[in-house]
Amino acid sequence: MKAAFAPKYGPPDVVEIRDMPRPVAGAGEVLVEIHATTVTRTDRETLRGHPWFARLVTGLTGPKHPVLGIDFAGVVVEVGPGTSRFSIGDRVFGLSPSRYGCHAEWVAVSEDGAIGHIPETLAFHEAVVGEGAWYAHSNLEAFGLASGQDVMIYGASGAIGTAAVQLAKARGAHVTAVVGTRHTDLAAALGADLVVNYMTEDFTARPERYDLVFDAVGKTTYPACRKLLKPQGAYYASDLGPWGQTVWLSLWSAITRSRRVVIGMPRDPREVIGFLGDMLADGRYRAVIDSHYDLDDISAAYAHVATEQKTGIVVIDVKPR
Ligand SMILES: NC(=O)c1ccc[n+]([C@@H]2O[C@H](COP(=O)([O-])OP(=O)(O)OC[C@H]3O[C@@H](n4cnc5c(N)ncnc54)[C@H](OP(=O)(O)O)[C@@H]3O)[C@@H](O)[C@H]2O)c1
Repeated sequence: MKAAFAPKYGPPDVVEIRDMPRPVAGAGEVLVEIHATTVTRTDRETLRGHPWFARLVTGLTGPKHPVLGIDFAGVVVEVGPGTSRFSIGDRVFGLSPSRYGCHAEWVAVSEDGAIGHIPETLAFHEAVVGEGAWYAHSNLEAFGLASGQDVMIYGASGAIGTAAVQLAKARGAHVTAVVGTRHTDLAAALGADLVVNYMTEDFTARPERYDLVFDAVGKTTYPACRKLLKPQGAYYASDLGPWGQTVWLSLWSAITRSRRVVIGMPRDPREVIGFLGDMLADGRYRAVIDSHYDLDDISAAYAHVATEQKTGIVVIDVKPR
């Protein structure tokens, strides 16, 4: 099968298209013929081996799983022994966060993992939204965002940010989205109650106060956002912050049990895939697609993701749309 192979850590052009053996569905697994996948910030950070301590998990000298890619959407073409949830021909989507392997024509995944049915009305490329939704859900769930609460989502135009706006609205929260000029219409269309343009206004000077400020793009800091918080409010971040400051602040928050600053740890990805299918089916969630690339052009997709300027997700069409 055709796969995008990363023989070492490095920039986008280390990725090579190779012919590799097709995987088989082992016990408890299904084999998925992939129609669409994505290049995410997770893939990009894994490809460059960043941050350094992540190499303890992703491989000390090079990627332990050299075929990256964690989002998949495709068709079940083989079911392994002992499986019962899926049948050959089922359209499925999901995440393969521990073994990656989705930048390829086929992937074998556990049927007990983060995999669900794609709603009938949805194309494959509209279903590869798992990674952003997973990180967004992990943070909102860790905070316990509830109906009626006020949340500010900073960087509401990336994969995590566009997901966070939609998931926070689905929870009944009152959402302020902070985005740049080119994304103000998008944020409103996703359901944000208030849209703030960080390019024309100092968002930290807003008069509103929040239960949660979620930095979905790693471009602001707790000290900058502190005055936006209600007395019991909290600042959550998807990134380590300048010089890792959010890590140290979150450790201090944990020690003092203030829960004021938190880097949301990824939760079990089955949670999010479990409810995302229903949300996609009834229109409460939709993919925000930046661009499409063929698998052969995946290095260019990586280079685009590395600009940190994408809007939502970058789709790889493994099969023609
Ligand atoms: N380490 C990992 O494995 C890992 C994995 C996933 C995610 N993450 C982290 O999670 C964060 C979000 O990931 P993502 O995939 O959602 O990001 P993304 O899609 O790459 O975010 C890009 C968006 O950020 C906006 N942006 C750029 N500069 C901004 C600024 N100063 N203020 C507000 N918005 C800005 C851009 O639009 P404008 O420029 O028009 O505003 C663009 O739409 C990143 O910090 C990433 O490092 C880390």
